[in-house]
Amino acid sequence: QKNLDINKNEDDDSLFQPEGRVLYTGSQLWKTVVDSEEKAKILAKLRDEEDITMWGGNVSAVDILVKRDSIGKVRSLLNNQNIRFDVAISDLQQAIEEENPTLEEEDFDNRNGHRLTWQAYHRLDDIHKYLDFLEEQHPDLVSQQTIGQSVNGNPIRLLKISNKQPGNKAVWIDGGIHAREWITPATVTFIINQLISNWENEPKYVQNTDWYFAPLLNPDGYEYTHTVDRLWRKNRRGSGRCAGIDLNRNFGYRWGGTGASKNPCAETYGGSGPFSEPETAAVQSFMSNANAKWKAYISFHSYGQYILYPWGYNRVVPPDYKDLELVGQRAAQAIRNAGGPSYTVGPAGNTLYPAAGGSDDWAKGAMKIKYAYTVELRDNGRYGFVLPASYIQPTAKEAMAAVRVIVEAASKA
Ligand code: ARG
Ligand code: ZN
Repeated sequence: QKNLDINKNEDDDSLFQPEGRVLYTGSQLWKTVVDSEEKAKILAKLRDEEDITMWGGNVSAVDILVKRDSIGKVRSLLNNQNIRFDVAISDLQQAIEEENPTLEEEDFDNRNGHRLTWQAYHRLDDIHKYLDFLEEQHPDLVSQQTIGQSVNGNPIRLLKISNKQPGNKAVWIDGGIHAREWITPATVTFIINQLISNWENEPKYVQNTDWYFAPLLNPDGYEYTHTVDRLWRKNRRGSGRCAGIDLNRNFGYRWGGTGASKNPCAETYGGSGPFSEPETAAVQSFMSNANAKWKAYISFHSYGQYILYPWGYNRVVPPDYKDLELVGQRAAQAIRNAGGPSYTVGPAGNTLYPAAGGSDDWAKGAMKIKYAYTVELRDNGRYGFVLPASYIQPTAKEAMAAVRVIVEAASKA
C-alpha cells in the first residue's frame, strides 16, 4: 500500500495519513459549463496534465475534481477561457469525513441478527453477513451462491429470491461494479430487504419473478475505498497508481471500442481482453449457464440521475429501443410519483457518452436480455460520489419504484 494515489507529491506527505490513506484535503469539486468543443479540449488537457480528474456530468455540464495545488492554475485558465464554474465542494476531505456517520452500538439494537441500517454505508463484511442472515431466516425463499472470487480472493456473492414456480421470468440486479459508488450496494440491499419484508403482500408479477441480486460485484475495490482511497473506481488488479481495470469496460460485447482506454493508468482502462477480470467473468459464466428466462438486467451506478439503455458503445440504438425508452420513461415517472427527483432517460451513448465494454451492452447484445438498463442514482453533482448517508433511504426508495416498473414490463416480455 505504498505509491497509492492521485495526490502524490514527493515532498508533501501531509496528504497521507500514517496508515497510507489517500487524503483530499483542499481539493475541490467544481461544476463547469462546457458548451463548445474548445472548452472540452481545455478540460481534457487539464486532465492529461493531472490538475483535475473528471467526475461526471454530460454533454454541457462537467463536474471536475480540482487538486489542491492546481486550484490557482485551473481557476485562471477557466476564467481566461470563459468557462463558467461553481464550487460544489470546497474541501473534499471534509466532505468525505462527513459523508458516513459512525454508528453507535445502540443503532444496531433490535436488528435481530444483522448490522445493515441503511443509515450509514457499511463494509463488505456487514453486507455479506446480511445476505447470510437472510438465507438462514428464509430458507424457503432465499438462496445464496458464490459465483466467483475477486482478484484478491473475496467472494462474489449472489442472492436469489424465488417462489420456484416453473414459469417465472428472471431479472438480474447488480451494484458496486464501480468501487466508489457507495450508494449502489446500499440500494441493492435495501431493495432485497423491501422485497423480503413484504413478500406476502407483493403483487403477482413480483412473486412470480426469479430475482437475482449481486449487490457488490467489485468487493476489492469497495474495501479499498473504505480503507485507502475513497475515490477508487476500478478493481484491484496490480498495485501502484496504475492498478486496476474498469470493470464496466471489461464486458465482452464490442470490447475495446470508443470510450475505453488502452492505458492501464486510465480510470477507464478496459483490461487486457474481454472478461479478463474474475469479477466480470463470474457474471458472464453465471448468467450464461443459469437456467433462467432472463428478461431484465439492471445495473446500478452513480451518479447523475439517469436511466440508460443500450447502446453504450456508440451513438446508436437497438431495433426495439422504443420499448426500452417507454419503460424507462415510466420508471422515471414512478420515481417522480414517489417524491423523487427527475431522472433523464435515454440511450447511454447519446445521453452520456459512448463507452464500450459496459455490462448493459453485454446483457442486451450477447445475452439478448430485452430490458437492459444502467441506472445512475443520485445525486446531480452536489456531492457526487460522496453522497451523505442520509440520502441512502430516499435514493433507494425511488430506485425500488423504478425496479418495479422494469420488472413488471419484464414479466410480460
Ligand atoms: N457511468 C457509466 C460508466 O461510465 C455509464 C455506463 C453506460 N453504459 C455503457 N455501456 N456505456 O461506466
Ligand atoms: Zn459507475
